[in-house]
Amino acid sequence: MSRPYVIDQMISAKSIAARIESLARDIHAAFDDTDKLVVVGLLRGSFVFIADLVRELDLPVEVDFIEASSYGDGMESSREVRILKDLRGTIEGRDVLIVEDIVDTGHTLSHVTDYLRSRHPARLKTIALLDKPARREVDFRADWTGFEIPDAFVVGYGIDFAQRNRNLPYIGQVRFTDDA
Ligand code: PRP
Repeated sequence: MSRPYVIDQMISAKSIAARIESLARDIHAAFDDTDKLVVVGLLRGSFVFIADLVRELDLPVEVDFIEASSYGDGMESSREVRILKDLRGTIEGRDVLIVEDIVDTGHTLSHVTDYLRSRHPARLKTIALLDKPARREVDFRADWTGFEIPDAFVVGYGIDFAQRNRNLPYIGQVRFTDDA
């Protein structure tokens, strides 16, 4: 049986919206001369963030998605990342922005960035809404980060706990209520 828990709000919907407006201005400045920016969402957790972010970008944008899955083999530092669903479009010679919900150990975004860079995009940048630097296992940092957070169990705004709570409009922290 699953443990009982409550969700405490950590980052409000209003704070997220304000931060996205600011991030969009930075992205706009970096890509203001682009003929087309391919915005790549990393499924599934990024689906809410990418939806809000692209609507703040006053640029010619194409939206595509990629899905990766990481799994342990007992040694976390050698964690493999598999591509489960690849892009529909080509990115060679294109400007690309990879959109991620959270960077934790860093394996997923680091791997996907290398994977897409091997297709020779013109420019490739990364953005993550949340960053948990305390959990990092590989030397990776997104070009833009929404919020740095402590090593807490977070849900909402696309992020799940056992496939639930992705639909919360804010970032919440899971607190188990059966703790001593
Ligand atoms: C989560 C999250 C990131 C990744 C971050 O994805 O959405 O993609 O883990 O972890 P890392 O930095 O340690 O690699 P998850 O595999 O839970 O899939 P989901 O996006 O479908 O929820």
